[in-house]
Amino acid sequence: MNIIITGASRGIGRDLAIQLAQYTHHRILVLSRNEGKLRELSDSYENIFHLKYDLGHPDPESLGQAIQGWSQIDLLINNAGLLVKKNFDQLKRSDWQRSFDVNFFGPVELIQQCLPLLKKSSNAHIVNITSMGGFQGSSKFPGLAAYSASKAALGNLTECLAEELKDDGVAVNALALGAVQTEMLAEAFPGFEPPMHSDQMAKFIVNFALNGWQFFNGKVLPVSTSTP
Ligand SMILES: NC(=O)c1ccc[n+]([C@@H]2O[C@H](COP(=O)([O-])OP(=O)(O)OC[C@H]3O[C@@H](n4cnc5c(N)ncnc54)[C@H](OP(=O)(O)O)[C@@H]3O)[C@@H](O)[C@H]2O)c1
Repeated sequence: MNIIITGASRGIGRDLAIQLAQYTHHRILVLSRNEGKLRELSDSYENIFHLKYDLGHPDPESLGQAIQGWSQIDLLINNAGLLVKKNFDQLKRSDWQRSFDVNFFGPVELIQQCLPLLKKSSNAHIVNITSMGGFQGSSKFPGLAAYSASKAALGNLTECLAEELKDDGVAVNALALGAVQTEMLAEAFPGFEPPMHSDQMAKFIVNFALNGWQFFNGKVLPVSTSTP
């Protein structure tokens, strides 16, 4: 399988890359801005390749070069995320912009670029990682308006895209995650210790990403043990 994972320099994305790399027939391209962290992965696993990539400033040419020679893409996990935590009256236009750039427009442009190769796969799956904060009817937390709205947009895109791509055999689903122990969560909620570890969540996402396309399409699934 040919796989692309965004946001693999740390947290859930890093664990996703490591777990998927155990299947030696997988070829995995990992993206993020931190080349040093990505290189640690590509130096450790011969089936992981890396590309320094800023979703806020997409570079289709460098991505095109990185996947040159790929005949298809089977799995795209839009995992990268940016969390701006500020109360609504403090949020500037630039905060909204960078939240949507990374959490929404980045995935949009990446999907558009990958689409021709996704359509060549017989079981293509796009998995968008959203958040319980962006899930309709869930509990909300102060300070997360820009983050949650951008994740909700990605969830809605998931539903729309699944409809548009259903005849091309490309399944599109979103997982709306609850709290997971990562640096993002620790930075946003210091002292809070969620019960879920990053590698546990990654294990679930890997299983879903590899098999869920057979059972789900256009779904935004809450992945949380707490009541929404
Ligand atoms: N942890 C939670 O409790 C939780 C809950 C709900 C949803 N989620 C979602 O799960 C996903 C993974 O979260 P996490 O907790 O593992 O977060 P994390 O530890 O902060 O990792 C986020 C990843 O996104 C990448 N990223 C951020 N800005 C980027 C940009 N401009 N261009 C490219 N990559 C960028 C980061 O890489 P660089 O800094 O190297 O670019 C990093 O690898 C995110 O989408 C997050 O919103 C997490």
